[in-house]
Order: sequence, then structure tokens, then C-alpha cells
Amino acid sequence: MKNLIKLEQRLIDEEIGSAGKLLDIGCATGENIIYFSQKCFEVTGFDLSEEMLKESKEKVEKLGLSIKLVKGNVCDMNMFKDNSFDYVLCMFTLMNLKDEVLQKQAINEMKRVCKLNGKIFIMVHNSDEGKVIFGDWFDKKFEYRIFNKDEIKNLIEGINLKIEKIDIVGEGKYIFSVCSKI
Ligand SMILES: C[S@@+](CC[C@H](N)C(=O)[O-])C[C@H]1O[C@@H](n2cnc3c(N)ncnc32)[C@H](O)[C@@H]1O
Repeated sequence: MKNLIKLEQRLIDEEIGSAGKLLDIGCATGENIIYFSQKCFEVTGFDLSEEMLKESKEKVEKLGLSIKLVKGNVCDMNMFKDNSFDYVLCMFTLMNLKDEVLQKQAINEMKRVCKLNGKIFIMVHNSDEGKVIFGDWFDKKFEYRIFNKDEIKNLIEGINLKIEKIDIVGEGKYIFSVCSKI
């Protein structure tokens, strides 16, 4: 898990500046919110799970960081105004949404809350074989939707976001995409 987080952070670091407002959708146990807060970004962590947010909160408080933590569903982020964030991260969270209608709603919401010329990062599991895998995240079992590159490309372009980059990474296991709101 640690290696995957490091990979995520390295890929994002290559694409972002040194400050700005950053929203981490599906922040889970807080690794990325802490990392980017310590790099001086103004960070909001967002997750559907009370349990995950509680874990994040404990870590954030222990470190004395100032990070907003918000509970909600990525498909309806009405608590955030339009054009609020410079960077929107959705790392291994789109895969929790099993049908295309929800996936499109989620990407639409990411676009809405992202500032003009801001960047949206979407990372998912990559495979041409099958549609669902079973994974775990800190002992909790999840059923994940998996994608291939064309499916992700079509989803993102269907929402009229510009794809700046879409790469297969992690020895073929993941798709990392960088999109901009134009
Ligand atoms: C695999 S974890 C993501 C981990 C983290 N983003 C990373 O890459 O290190 C998926 C997270 O998405 C959250 N999640 C699932 N469905 C969601 C939804 N509809 N809206 C917001 N968060 C959701 C889960 O509670 C979980 O914390």
C-alpha cells in the first residue's frame, strides 16, 4: 500500500505547483491530505465513510495540521461552490461507483468544483479483463469497478474535460489521468 501511495504522490507532484486549494475525494485514511498539507497546499479531505474520516482526523490532529474534513458523496458535492479548487484528486475512488451514470455524475461534480484551468487527477485500476475485482483497504473488503484506458478516456471526454495525460502506470496495473477544465 505504501508503495502505491508513493507512486500516487510522485505522479501528482510532477503535475502541480507549490500551493493552491486542493480537494482529495475519497481521502480514506489521510495519506495524501497530510502529504499535500505539509507541502503548503490548502487541503480539504472528502469521504463518504465516517470511519475513514475519523481515522484521518486523528492523524491530522496529532500532526497539528489544518485540514478541512468533509463527509459526503462524490456524486453530489453541493457543499462546495463552483470553481472552488485548483486541484481535485480522485485516486482509487471512482472505482467504488459501479455504473456509468454515477461515474459521469461524479466526474461532472469534479469539473464543477474545479477552477478554470485547474487540474483533476483520476487514478483507477487498469484491466481489459472483466469489470469487477475484489480489493481491500486497511482490512475492509471492497468490490471495485475496473476500467481500461478507452473507457476512462470516453468517460472524461464525455464530460468535456481536456485530457492532458492518460498513462498506464505501476507495471500495467493502474491508469493515471490528468484533466483540465477549460
Ligand atoms: C481505496 S480508498 C481511496 C484511497 C485514497 N484516495 C488513496 O488513493 O490513497 C476509496 C475511498 O473512497 C471512499 N468512497 C467510496 N465511495 C465514495 C463516494 N461515493 N463518495 C466519496 N467517497 C467515497 C471510501 O470510503 C474510501 O475511503
